[in-house]
Formats: sequence, structure tokens, C-alpha cells
Amino acid sequence: MNEQQRKQMSQIRTEKPADVKSDQDNLKRIKNKTSDEFMQYFQTNYQPPSLRDAKKRGKEDVKVHYDFSIPEDLSNLGQGKKYMIRTYGCQMNEHDTEVMAGMLEDMGYQATTETREADIILLNTCAIRENAENKVFGEIGHLKPLKMENPDLILGVCGCMSQEESVVNRILKKHPFMDLIFGTHNIHRLPHLIKDAMFSKEMVVEVWSKEGDIIENLPRSRKGKIKAWVNIMYGCDKFCTYCIVPYTRGKERSRRPEDIIQEVRHLAAQGYKEITLLGQNVNAYGKDFEDIDYGLGELMNEIHKIDIPRVRFTTSHPRDFDDRLIEVLGQGGNLLDHIHLPVQSGSSSILKIMARKYTRESYLELVRKIREAMPEATLTTDIIVGFPNETEEQFQETLTLMEEVGFESAYTFIYSPREGTPAARMKDNVPMEVKKERLQRLNAIVNRQSKEAMEKYEGAIVDVLVEGESKKNPEVLAGYTKRNKLVNFRAPKSTIGEIVKVKITKAKTWSLDGELVEEAAEVKR
Ligand code: SAH
Ligand code: SF4
Ligand code: F3S
Repeated sequence: MNEQQRKQMSQIRTEKPADVKSDQDNLKRIKNKTSDEFMQYFQTNYQPPSLRDAKKRGKEDVKVHYDFSIPEDLSNLGQGKKYMIRTYGCQMNEHDTEVMAGMLEDMGYQATTETREADIILLNTCAIRENAENKVFGEIGHLKPLKMENPDLILGVCGCMSQEESVVNRILKKHPFMDLIFGTHNIHRLPHLIKDAMFSKEMVVEVWSKEGDIIENLPRSRKGKIKAWVNIMYGCDKFCTYCIVPYTRGKERSRRPEDIIQEVRHLAAQGYKEITLLGQNVNAYGKDFEDIDYGLGELMNEIHKIDIPRVRFTTSHPRDFDDRLIEVLGQGGNLLDHIHLPVQSGSSSILKIMARKYTRESYLELVRKIREAMPEATLTTDIIVGFPNETEEQFQETLTLMEEVGFESAYTFIYSPREGTPAARMKDNVPMEVKKERLQRLNAIVNRQSKEAMEKYEGAIVDVLVEGESKKNPEVLAGYTKRNKLVNFRAPKSTIGEIVKVKITKAKTWSLDGELVEEAAEVKR
């Protein structure tokens, strides 16, 4: 298959055996086939997704499509039926789930949380680390008996794992009872894919290994009425050497500012109190525009003027964090005092091998500038320990950076090799026990710093956006401060969705306890 054909490759179908009489027979037959027979069968009928193609970044223009609609013949397909989507991974996936839920509901499907009630179950997957993938394969195994009982049930896998050849091959080989696999570039095709999965005796596999377009006007069924996600860009071009995302999500492409602003205005009019602007690397927003000079700073400046109480954004890459953005964020107002700025390592030599394209020193300089403009800002981060050949000294540099910046919280991970990425080909001399021990040492510091940051709030009064009942106790309400601290307190349910003042009575490691105050005193944010 040549390059052109591959790019145009729209739908790959894997025919199930032709002499199959019914779904039940089909399943039995699938079950009885040996893995080798299966692979032989599929290898002649099926073209896998390609990480190599996904890596190629051609000169293709990003197309923005405004003409999305669900054809009439598909809009009743879900009448009287129920759907369930299990979501793994990051906010991007959470939000994609809202888009898929929107499409399913427009087709007549209703949501259910009962696996047994569902007529379609989708697993929206994450490929970032091996344990994320293992969870999904475990879940696929659990779903098998359900499918055997109810052959009409449609089981699908989507999200980042579907973009990996090895994953798709494994599903074909080991889990042939699945009905549908589709990729991150194929989400808008869901109504068509469901129809295919329903009406043909085929396992439908549609994974485009391409750079990606932008599809506007997709329906969305948002999870709540208080906080909403807004995509501002898709994909990632950074190719950090450990990371699979640039392969699974396509190239960096920004939504047009007017489309984003319209969506935010709409959310404000609907009464949403907080929006989070989403992208793998939001600081690269606008770099792909050829006709306008417009970046995240300009976008935030526009959104700053919209009457919505809270605006967050995630995730920031230190490399593209420019002075204009810092200046705009310094205006405060609805732009919140919390920046998640993944550093990954405190060692410049490790950062170099990670291809992060900044050094410990330049990261610290960026932190200094942010602090100057936003003295109240909370900084949080992501850290990877046990990158191939990380020495004890290099690891110590991560520990000292953690303290030097004073991160108030951090997501910490043991490096997980991802097939197809450069780091996965590196020899690694660090034993797993050492990596685990480093993670523990790092987490001890993270916990201590988080607790210390929380303790500063004891006795203070903070503004809390009340999100709902706390997870542990329905009598208690929970919400976040402007600086992203979780607060639990007792208050009437009528305060849910409001911003209220809470006096902090007790600091824990990851949250604060408080009491609702009627009267405003001086507020510490
Ligand atoms: N785009 C974001 C990160 C998205 S992935 C950024 O660059 O900041 C979220 C986090 O997962 C990363 O920040 C990194 O810390 C971690 N991560 C990514 N790939 C990983 C891997 N192969 N092993 C372990 N952790 C990884
Ligand atoms: Fe992965 Fe790096 Fe892109 Fe973040 S910036 S998604 S870590 S490649
Ligand atoms: Fe996972 Fe894909 Fe997000 S790999 S972290 S779901 S972009």
C-alpha cells in the first residue's frame, strides 16, 4: 500500500467468517478458532493502524469541518437502547467521552451505569503507561461473558490504545468477540460505525493513522452543570522521547479563536461557573495558524472578558510558556491562580534525553517570572522517575528541584516504556526496585509539601466553588478554591453550584476541612 492509499484508507473491516449463520454461531465459531487461525485470517483482510505513519508530519493543511450532522437514518438507531462509556486517561479522554455521549444521545440512546442493561459499551482507553493498558485488557476480559450471554451487545474500544498496532492486533487475536475498534481521529464517525457493527457480521476496525482535522459542531453531553471542558487544541508535536501521545493524537492543531470564544460564551450563558481549556500542550495554541498571529495569551485575554467566574487551562508545557501569557495571567480576575507545569525531571541531562527542550535553569527562570507576575500562584507538576539510566545524582536533582520550586502537589510516575517511542529502545540499567524506591522517596517530599501548603490555610477564609456532595460523606459538600485546593464543609445543598466563603478549620495532606461563613471577612484565595 502506498502513502497516498494509506492516507486515504478510510475503513478497514475484518470480515468474520462468511458461512456464519447467526451471531450466536458466529461467537461460538470465533471462540473455537485457534489464535493462529485467527491471525492468518486477519492478516489477509486487515490493515493495522501505523505508529510510523502517525509520526510522519506532512504538509497537509488542517481542515476545519463545520458540517457535522447525524444522518436521519441513524438518528433513531438507539431508540429504547442504553449506552455505557468507561473512560480511562486524561481530561482529553473525559471530554471525548462527553462528545461520544452527545452523539449516542442524539441517536436515541440513554445512559446507564448498569453494565447488564447496556446495549453498547465503549471503553475509551489511555495508552500513556503500561498499567493503564493492563486495566483495559482486564476489563475486556470481564466483558466477554456478557457478550456470550447477549450477542446483540455491541462492545467497542476507542481512545489512544486503538491507535497502537500492537493493541489492535492483540484484540483481534485474543478478544475477537469485540465488535468495534475506532481511533481518536474517528470519533465523529461513531454513528456510522455503530450501524456497521449492528448490521453486518463484521468486526469493524476504523483507525486513521493521520495528522488529524478539526471537527466542529459535535454534540456534547456534559457531565455536570457547574464545570465544563473546552478543547482549544488537539494533538502534540513535542515528541518527548518517552511519550506515546504525539503518535496517538496526531499533530498540533488549534481551534479557531472565534469557535472557542463562542463555545465559552454559550457555556457562560448556560450558567456554567468554571471552564477548563484543554490541550496536551496548550501553550502551543495558535502556533499552527498561518493567517493570524494569535497565541494562548491573546485567547486568555479575550476569555478574561467573558462573564464566567473561573477559567483554568491544562496542560502547560514549559517550552512554549511565553511572556505575553504571563502578562495576561497576571491580570487575575477569572483567570485562576493555579498553574500545572510538568517538569518531568530536575536534571538537565535527563531533560535533554527526554527531548523536553528546556533545562533545570530555564525552568527555574520561568517559575521566577510566573511568581513575579502571579505572587499567589500555586504550582503543581508531573514527574517521571527511573527514566532509562537515571543515576542517583540525577534523581537527587529532581528532589532538590521539587523543594526549590515548592510545588504544592505533583503527579509522580515510574517510567513506563512505550513501544514505538525512542526511549523504549534505550538500554536501561536501573532495576525496578530502585525505581520503586525512588518513587517512594519522591512521594514523601510531595506529601510533605502538600501538607505544608495546606497548613497555611488554617484559619483563613477562602472562596469555594461548591461542586456537590463529598465522595466519602453525602452530608458533607466539597468544592475547590481558586488555587485548586479541595475543601470539605457542611452547608445546605442549595449552595451547590455557587461560590461561597468557607473558613478553614483543619488542613489534611490533600484537602482542607472548613465551615461555611455567612459574612465575608477578608478573603484569602
Ligand atoms: N502533555 C502533557 C502531559 C501528558 S501525559 C505535558 O507534556 O505536560 C501526563 C504525564 O504522564 C506526563 O506529564 C508524564 O509525566 C507522564 N508520562 C508520559 N509518558 C510516560 C511514560 N512513558 N512513563 C511514565 N510516565 C509518563
Ligand atoms: Fe507527551 Fe511531551 Fe506531548 Fe506532553 S508534550 S503529550 S509529555 S510528547
Ligand atoms: Fe492517555 Fe491519550 Fe490522554 S494516552 S493521557 S488518554 S492523550
